[in-house]
Amino acid sequence: MPDIRLENLTKRWGDVVAVDNLNLTIPDRSFTCLLGPSGCGKTTTLRMIAGLEEPTRGKISNGDKLVFCSERGLSLSPDKRDVGLIFQNYALWPHMTVFQNIAFGLEMKKMSRSQVEERVKEAAGWMQIDEYLQRYPSELSGGQQQRVALARSLAPRPNCLLMDEPLSNLDAKLRMDMRTELKRIHAETNMTIVYVTHDQLEAISMATTVVVMKDGKLEQCDEPLRLYKYPNNLFVADFVGSPSINLLKGKIVELRDVWTVQCGDWLLSLKKAPYGDTAIKNGHEVVVGVRCEDILISNPEPPAIGMLVYSNLPTGSDTFVRLRHEDISLTAKLSEADIIPTGSEINASFRPERVLLFDSKTGERMSEGSSLVNFSIAP
Ligand SMILES: Nc1ncnc2c1ncn2[C@@H]1O[C@H](COP(=O)(O)OP(=O)(O)OP(=O)(O)O)[C@@H](O)[C@H]1O
Ligand SMILES: [Mg+2]
Repeated sequence: MPDIRLENLTKRWGDVVAVDNLNLTIPDRSFTCLLGPSGCGKTTTLRMIAGLEEPTRGKISNGDKLVFCSERGLSLSPDKRDVGLIFQNYALWPHMTVFQNIAFGLEMKKMSRSQVEERVKEAAGWMQIDEYLQRYPSELSGGQQQRVALARSLAPRPNCLLMDEPLSNLDAKLRMDMRTELKRIHAETNMTIVYVTHDQLEAISMATTVVVMKDGKLEQCDEPLRLYKYPNNLFVADFVGSPSINLLKGKIVELRDVWTVQCGDWLLSLKKAPYGDTAIKNGHEVVVGVRCEDILISNPEPPAIGMLVYSNLPTGSDTFVRLRHEDISLTAKLSEADIIPTGSEINASFRPERVLLFDSKTGERMSEGSSLVNFSIAP
């Protein structure tokens, strides 16, 4: 199954623009997560790919096969699009046992009895529902039913599987297990998976490609770690990562071979950004972004600046500390061993190559990652 391509895809209901001129390529055999806040158009996009929702405008193709085109008035029915589906509101057949529910699609494919049994057992094993095979859906919890629905979609090993928040009814531990399973199943099969979630951790940990959406528009489509390290704009920077990225308002006070940014009474000197700097003048308002793990406090190399430990939040494996300096407050991540008492004075610095600079007006990232060369207090 080759790439799925969406071109100028738009869906409107009256004044509501659910999906707004979306251009996107979902790579063949990728695990692509559509990520974004509630109402940003994820489900609508998935339903349009599946053929369950008619786009207002645009084109959808599956490799060479055009499956929707508003100009030509072409729209293939869902069964001709070669995609499997699993939705948040899964529907199991109530009069069939779990086994029969999972076997149904396989029998439709005219598989032999022994092959059906093998595939049902395999899918039930993946989803940890082996012991419920003879039960009816009404005898299962919501989370168990959701896993049966997942097993049913996975068992035929479709070329492409579309999933809309398929783990939403599971408790935290089971969700973690299922994420691991899905990722492994994806790696073992040749399936293309398009997976909708509003959980950024789920997207980052499972996907090979993450598509961030907001208000029906594409914000960024990238590999998970690139998205995390180099968010295109403030929205993506803030939406991805937990705890959220530290964002400091500032302005450019010097523009030479290094840029100096003033945030409060801090002066950060950054190696000049390689591009997009022609329109930048002194006084330009910017936002400096630093992830909590990129704040160095245990043994910071100079240049470092004094801060006060305002609070400590141990999670077991890590400790998040809130640091203050006048109006500036930052969250830093330390290892569990490094608990520093509240009220302590520490020296903080930033991992030099991981300081991000955004244009405060447009929200766009201004550089590939600026290198911090000096960090001091304004005279
Ligand atoms: N049938 C409909 N009629 C009118 N508006 C709709 C319809 N379906 C969805 N919308 C609107 O379109 C927008 C996108 O909805 P969609 O369900 O795609 O969001 P979502 O990203 O899946 O959100 P969630 O994370 O809450 O599931 C929302 O503003 C929603 O209210
Ligand atoms: Mg949805």
